[in-house]
Amino acid sequence: MTTDFSEDTATAAVVGSFANCPDARLKSVMESFVRHLHGFVGEVEPTLREWEQGIAFLTEVGRKCVSARQEFILLSDVLGVSMLVDAINNRAAVDATASTVLGPFHVQDAPARELGADIAVAEDAPRCVVRGTVRSASGLPLAGAILDVWQADDAGFYDVQQPERVPQNNLRGVFTADESGEFWFRTIVPKFYPVPEDGPVGQLLRATNRHPNRPAHIHFIGSATGFDTVVTHLFIEGSPYLEDDAVFGVKKSLIREVEKVDDPELARRYGVSNPFGVIDFDLFLAPIRTSVPDDHN
Ligand code: BEZ
Ligand code: FE
Repeated sequence: MTTDFSEDTATAAVVGSFANCPDARLKSVMESFVRHLHGFVGEVEPTLREWEQGIAFLTEVGRKCVSARQEFILLSDVLGVSMLVDAINNRAAVDATASTVLGPFHVQDAPARELGADIAVAEDAPRCVVRGTVRSASGLPLAGAILDVWQADDAGFYDVQQPERVPQNNLRGVFTADESGEFWFRTIVPKFYPVPEDGPVGQLLRATNRHPNRPAHIHFIGSATGFDTVVTHLFIEGSPYLEDDAVFGVKKSLIREVEKVDDPELARRYGVSNPFGVIDFDLFLAPIRTSVPDDHN
């Protein structure tokens, strides 16, 4: 390591400081991090005031984090880092349903519901039937596959954002696909909504003239024994912001039409008022991989 620290020697000096790191992966991550961070600082040439503002911003991001709010993940989301990490970690799953961000509104212990259940426990809006089959990437139905589902309401709010208006677990449920891998449930069509914008990430979006909105979507986590779990969404065709999701989560293969159905017999069968909506969404799971990108050692 050199003691004659200058713009020219800075990066080599700091990279060299990790020479004795006993963990090879940590060593290469830190060396790369320092090279890129120094490159960024060298390119931007921040004033001391700007550097302090940057530190203050990251401090505020940390201060905003509590158990129900992870502002660092939100920062990662709006900078496209979450989706980039997701893409790197799902490279191999070509025939599987595309993955996308988990988001902050998933809850661990949503209730198990029967197939056909109406998850819109506290909603008056017209009903929509979501139905599909969970299959292996090669097309075989996966009996007993599990689907964890959650969504915003027709005003763009999750249950956890309005505990005074709706009961816990409104618009959530965990379904078990039948022996043919099929599932269905009743719900309402969600609306687009903004990511939480009352913190430093919201300030950043405003300062850069970016909107905070996500297109309307329904979240799914699909899992089955022997298959990779997929964290994904179904996006509602025609929703605003499909082309400019604030967190870059949209993949074209996940956009689905809400078919308008006017059929009294079918309405009776599904237990909904006629007319109603139908969304078809099949999920395809890739066989579990023995080697994944985080096997760096
Ligand atoms: C969501 O879809 O729930 C979400 C994803 C990323 C950031 C904020 C919300
Ligand atoms: Fe969401």
